[in-house]
Amino acid sequence: MAINDTCACSAQDEAAVRAALESFEHTRTNLIPILHEIQDRTGRITGWAMEQVADALKMPLAEVWGTATFYTMFDIEGAAKHIVRVCDSPPCHITGSAAVLKAVEEELGIKPGEVTQDGMFGLEEVACLGLCGVAPVMLIDREVFGNLTPEMVPGIIAKFREEG
Ligand code: FES
Repeated sequence: MAINDTCACSAQDEAAVRAALESFEHTRTNLIPILHEIQDRTGRITGWAMEQVADALKMPLAEVWGTATFYTMFDIEGAAKHIVRVCDSPPCHITGSAAVLKAVEEELGIKPGEVTQDGMFGLEEVACLGLCGVAPVMLIDREVFGNLTPEMVPGIIAKFREEG
């Protein structure tokens, strides 16, 4: 598949994707961190961005697409300043992730798959983040919060609200 040299997105987004790619060694094992970085910098992962990743990592575009769309943690459509991802795979579930998710929903006033009206937070329920040792876990952007209780949620969210 041909790789586009130019991006239909803004010059700012194009520069952000290139910067994200430069932040990591171009190995296949860095695929997910690179996709995270792109999403953090631009709020989404466009088709053009996926082409750049496939080209840099010398892997099939279909594989990059597959990864980006398989993991619901990657919001390929849209934009929230901070993405809150609460794991609900069994090890997190049995240690109380449902109560944590409920606390996050109440704090933000949204359900998984939604974005707050001010665009500040997006919420996603995701499968195992590979951090089961500190279950239940949530990720906000790339910061990990483990051994969570519902009571910890308001303080954590407040910190991100203050930072803007
Ligand atoms: S099950 Fe939640 S991090 Fe693995």
